[in-house]
This record gives sequence, C-alpha cells and structure tokens, in this order.
Amino acid sequence: MKSVVILISGRGSNLLALLEAQLPGSIAAVISNRPEATGLELARSHGVAAVSLDHRRYASREEFDLALAAEIDRHGADLVVLAGFMRILGDAFVRRYSGRLLNIHPSLLPVFPGLDTHARALAAGVKIHGCSVHFVTPALDSGPIVIQAAVPVLGLDDEQTLAARVLAQEHRIYPQAVRWFLEGRLELTAAGRVVLSDEGEASASLIAPALG
Ligand code: GRF
Repeated sequence: MKSVVILISGRGSNLLALLEAQLPGSIAAVISNRPEATGLELARSHGVAAVSLDHRRYASREEFDLALAAEIDRHGADLVVLAGFMRILGDAFVRRYSGRLLNIHPSLLPVFPGLDTHARALAAGVKIHGCSVHFVTPALDSGPIVIQAAVPVLGLDDEQTLAARVLAQEHRIYPQAVRWFLEGRLELTAAGRVVLSDEGEASASLIAPALG
C-alpha cells in the first residue's frame, strides 16, 4: 500500500476531503508550516500524525525545505500532496519529489497563477472559472495538469460565492487525482507529460457540473 504525506498551512478543507475519501493508500502524516493551522486538529481527529514545522524557525528557505524533506521521508511518503500549502518550495525540494508532488490551485491553469484567483477572475469578467490539480515543477503554479473542474461565473457572484463554488469542486478533483496516483494509474513521464492509464481519460480529467 502506498503512503501519502499532506502539507497544509491553514483551514484544511481539502485535507478533510482527502481524509474522508477512503483512499486506497495510507495517509502517513499531515505537516503544517503554521502551528495554528486548524487542519492539524482535523488530522489528529482522524488518527493521523500531525506535525507542526514552523518555517519562521529556519534561517533560510533551503534550511526549511531540508527539514521538511527529512520529516516527509521519515514517514516514507510515496506521494506528497500540497493542500493549501502557502509556502513556495525551492527547486531542490521540487526536484527531489519530481513526479510524486501534487498541488491544487483555485483557477483553470494556466490562467491566474498566484494569489487572489477569484477576485482576478471576477475582474477579468471570465464566464468560466475553476480549479486544477497539477504535478509541481519549479515554476509557481505551472506544471503538468492532471485534472480540472470548471464552474460558471454568475452575474451576482462576489469573491466568496465564487470561491465556495470552486472549493466544492476542489473537494471532488483532489481525492480523484490522489486515488489515481495510489492506484498506479497516474504518472508523469520523463518528458513531463501526464499519463493516466485505463479507460475514460478524456472525460475523467475534466469535471464540468451542469449549469443549474
Ligand atoms: C484552496 O482554495 C486551495 O486551492 C488553495 O488554498 C486553498 C486551501 O483551502 N491552494 P483549504 O485549506 O484546503 O481549505
């Protein structure tokens, strides 16, 4: 059975979706760079080791990344899942976990990388918004896309209503992507392409809920 380490920084709603997904693998640990992250308590209440690793205690990004990697490896992770982990990871860290490091981002990448995606989507006037799970590469919020979900942007939306609509889809696509990886169906090739084996790839990797 493969094991997963999940990195968080805060609320942990994606973490909760993963904890409740009955994944075909074990969640070995949850690590937060912020001691106050409520997600740590969620992990404990599900019987999962919760580790606080405060980045402010490290003199440099490299030192923090090394301590983080040591903690991840101590739990023997086959897959590292960034679930609202709000800290940029250095190139060496990203290379170390190449092909087994996933992130979720609240936009239809490659549009709106970075922060404040929902406000930027509203300001741009896009009619379709969404979320993406991707393998992590050194460039921020880029990297080969595994699965996306699209949602409509409605006339009366504000940042909160749009964020909530997207978040509901995040909670669907992240467990799906992690499940594929744990089943051995999801792979990143040396050429940087995502391969999803077995049936239904085209339809499975885009979720577009019916307009209500
Ligand atoms: C999510 O919107 C995720 O896409 C982004 O940060 C947010 C984390 O939320 N990277 P939560 O902590 O999973 O509730």
